[in-house]
Amino acid sequence: MIKKVTVKTIRKFKENKEKFSALTAYDYSTAKYLDEAGIDLILIGDSLAMVALGYETTNSIGVEEMSIFTKAVAKGVKRAMVITDMPFLSYHTDIPTAIKNCGNMIKLGANGVKIEGYSEYILEVIKRCVDSGIPVVGHLGFTPQFLNTLGGYRIQGKTQEAAEEILRQAKELEKAGAFAVVLEMVPQESAKYITENLKISTISCGAGKYCDAQVLVSDDVFGKYSDFTPKFARKYGDMKEFILNCAKQYNEDVKSGKFPSENEIFQI
Ligand code: KIV
Repeated sequence: MIKKVTVKTIRKFKENKEKFSALTAYDYSTAKYLDEAGIDLILIGDSLAMVALGYETTNSIGVEEMSIFTKAVAKGVKRAMVITDMPFLSYHTDIPTAIKNCGNMIKLGANGVKIEGYSEYILEVIKRCVDSGIPVVGHLGFTPQFLNTLGGYRIQGKTQEAAEEILRQAKELEKAGAFAVVLEMVPQESAKYITENLKISTISCGAGKYCDAQVLVSDDVFGKYSDFTPKFARKYGDMKEFILNCAKQYNEDVKSGKFPSENEIFQI
């Protein structure tokens, strides 16, 4: 019997000081393999806008596209907790729309949602989601949906004061009911301080080794996405090279008549 990772499991990980792993997935078979590999949390990140759909930023993706990928990923996963990243403007206009959009991801098979940023309004969205049975992961530090207001891909929480401010915000997210928070592009010392002072888990995305968990974009880990790789993303394979080699061989075999062979055809 497979034991599903839930909010309770994630809380236990923190209590037991046990690290957990998270990766993004956007399609059924990748999600299935990540789950088989033992990844604890699978995120349908809005990074899919860039790595799977070729958009310039994550702000171009909407609820409809995120819904399609959520459905596909959820179908492939048995054990991991599946979290959908709520896209730009899907929870910002008003609370009923936010709950409807977040709740829709649960209906499609997600086990929770991730919401970027901090404001009184976002705290209210988190509270209302949690009250409605929708687990929430927060996201602080560098928040890609705020790229235009942050003025570019900048490291956040670089001073004691800035780290204190992220901790203050994270504590408010915790109070609102978030069960974890992603810290993106935060110096390791700041992330350590924040992690040590929170009851909920911190998930590092370029925030060093002292967080309770790590998350990366799977296309970076597999060496598939090559337009840009952040400093903190460790490449474990070269899928770009693998795809290129397979496609080149196939191309040659088709053109030289080596494909298909006798074993790859039907006879009358
Ligand atoms: O969209 C994304 O992939 C993310 C990261 C935290 C990995 O939000």
